[in-house]
Amino acid sequence: MKHVSISNRKADHLNLTSDGQSAFRNKTTLLQELHLIHQALPECSLDDIKLHCELFGHPVSAPLIIAGMTGGHEKAAQINQDLAKVAQALNIPFGLGSQRAMALHPELIDTFDVRKHAPDVLLIGNIGVVHAKEYGTAHVHELTKKIQANVMAVHLNPAMELIQEQGDRDFTGCLDTIKSLLDTLDIPIVVKETGCGISPQVAKQLKTIGVQYIDVSGSGGTSWVAVESRRAQKNSLHQSIGEELWDWGLPTAVSIASCVHQNINVIASGGIRTASDIAAALSLGAQGVGFAAPVLTAYNEGGYDQVLAFFEKRYLTLKSIMLLTGSQDIHALQNAPHYIDHTLREWLTCLGLR
Ligand SMILES: Cc1cc2nc3c(=O)[nH]c(=O)nc-3n(C[C@H](O)[C@H](O)[C@H](O)COP(=O)(O)O)c2cc1C
Repeated sequence: MKHVSISNRKADHLNLTSDGQSAFRNKTTLLQELHLIHQALPECSLDDIKLHCELFGHPVSAPLIIAGMTGGHEKAAQINQDLAKVAQALNIPFGLGSQRAMALHPELIDTFDVRKHAPDVLLIGNIGVVHAKEYGTAHVHELTKKIQANVMAVHLNPAMELIQEQGDRDFTGCLDTIKSLLDTLDIPIVVKETGCGISPQVAKQLKTIGVQYIDVSGSGGTSWVAVESRRAQKNSLHQSIGEELWDWGLPTAVSIASCVHQNINVIASGGIRTASDIAAALSLGAQGVGFAAPVLTAYNEGGYDQVLAFFEKRYLTLKSIMLLTGSQDIHALQNAPHYIDHTLREWLTCLGLR
């Protein structure tokens, strides 16, 4: 019975995040407030611009990631296989969705097991911190082994859980759980939000226990409060709380700055849509960026080919932005001159990040 309910929820998520109706309403990533300064004398050639870099210590063709989305139900196996093949073709990291379904029902491993389709990809496993606490670190270690993950994402999602009618309500002991995972797993851990961002306080707490990688997944893209509000029964209390908290969270730009301030390696996700978003996130100090809902939308439109085209467009546009800022490589782009507009500047000043 529980098997069916987890699978149904995961299928609902695919439908409710790809129809464009679960976006933040009045909050943006604030990445549009970072303006790179145009250089009319770039003194470089488009053919010489290099996107390759390292993420989690692995060489990749560009600082882009397919963020964790799915697993654990019928449709997920095909989606994960196809997206993993795109990641293999491009040599970019690929994230699986939460392995909770697999932890509870080991036979669902087929929906996560993409290694044979993507032998060289940097593969990122995924588990919620509350579930990691429940299952124990040894079980999480086993989950990473079963899918041959190179990195494990431990996701934080308290806002989403509160709106979900059967969601988790107890978020105690999460920091201790992350600490035990850091001590036990033999692969790097990335602590990941799911659309509400990371504050300066949380960045500091994570830094203190030794976390080296954070995927901020900030506000401005997919709202998971919105997703659960739309899943809740019509006119229910949960739906109305979800309506009120629809836009809850910290903008992605502010979350990046919060983690960079603690010298943590940052993956920027949450509302990354365009190459301009990628460039702004890197300019704020992120090492890589993750895409979730837009990849799914491209997949629904035209499968593997459309997702490949989605990334090819961003590669070329990012190279164009790099040329126009006189940046030959990603490191140069991260250090290119920029101007920060007043709303983002005020956030950064008020939070003591500048
Ligand atoms: C269909 C779907 C399922 C998701 N499932 C997970 C998940 O299982 N674990 C997780 O850490 N994040 C999950 N996410 C969250 C994304 O990884 C990402 O943090 C969030 O959607 C914000 O990025 P976006 O604005 O590009 O969608 C999911 C996203 C989508 C679209």
